[in-house]
Amino acid sequence: MTTFSADFTQRNRLAERPLAELTTMRVGGPATVIQLDDRRDLAEAIATGGRWLGKGANLLVGDAPADRIVLRLGRDFETCAIDPLSNGLARVRVGAAHDLAKLIAATTAAGLAGPEGLAGVPATIGGALRMNAGTSTCWMLDWVVRVEVVLPDEDAPRWLERSELPASYRSCGLPEGTLFLGCELALASANPETLKATATRLKQAKAASQPLALASAGCVFKNPSRELPAGKLIDELGLKGVRVGGAEVSPVHANFIVNPERKATADEVCALIGHIRERAWRERAIVLNMEVEAWDCPDWLHAHPALINADAALAPVA
Ligand code: EPU
Repeated sequence: MTTFSADFTQRNRLAERPLAELTTMRVGGPATVIQLDDRRDLAEAIATGGRWLGKGANLLVGDAPADRIVLRLGRDFETCAIDPLSNGLARVRVGAAHDLAKLIAATTAAGLAGPEGLAGVPATIGGALRMNAGTSTCWMLDWVVRVEVVLPDEDAPRWLERSELPASYRSCGLPEGTLFLGCELALASANPETLKATATRLKQAKAASQPLALASAGCVFKNPSRELPAGKLIDELGLKGVRVGGAEVSPVHANFIVNPERKATADEVCALIGHIRERAWRERAIVLNMEVEAWDCPDWLHAHPALINADAALAPVA
């Protein structure tokens, strides 16, 4: 049982919460959740060995009570400051707890180009940096000049230049367990109306092709290649609408698993994932890898699909 200093408990918020309430998939067992509002207490928060949660939009959490503390960045990490333009460029410093949608609203209104390309991606800045969130045309790290992080096994922040991040598709390139505290962006000036129109168009395109009204964790699998997106593959396998309990392969976009009645368990979602991975391997010899992060879920979610116990994964499929 972790104990905290009086300052820590006074300056930050601690609560027992079902993680189903803090994830967009709406599954996940209870955990001790700390919201770190005061930057002075960062080292004490890190010392808990807990896991950091952003908007919970790309996360699948197991059903059992979590044995590790869950931490979220709060007030002191929600900042956003836009510098005046200089030579057509403006620096923007934004904290990891800031909502990506709010950053996009602020940069488009200020006539600064880039982030509007991520319109409709549900994330905090920290989550978007860590996952290098993006679309088929741009990634979060495209406009980043430097990031403030705490590396695993360290307890003090440091700034890293963008060139020190070997980022790639859906990866920031930093070790697992890296905590992002914020970043600095360099954005070029552009017409605010044009930027707003782009953001609106992207959000409309997403709304037309993705099941945004239902609980989900977004795209479940990374695209195995540019030529064959995971959604197209799963669609071709005829899996749209397949269910395990309350979890369903979205009939709208096959790379989404939805939780329409908000009654699915993590076990059901995992069984459906196992089924999809097993079919993709057996019928097309393609290994589907997880895009969604999984906490306290079975290891076979990440194992080679040839090793998935098909009987266990397939049994409940309807
Ligand atoms: N497709 C199908 N059937 C489906 C779904 C898609 O045939 O059920 C086809 C589409 O018609 C299209 C192709 O597959 O020809 C690609 O689909 P889409 O344009 O929806 O893009 P995606 O590759 O599936 C990526 C990101 C999304 C992001 C969109 C839009 C990944 C894994 N996914 O999706 O990100 O919103 O581009 O920019 O990279 C996420 O990260 O959670 C996410 C949803």
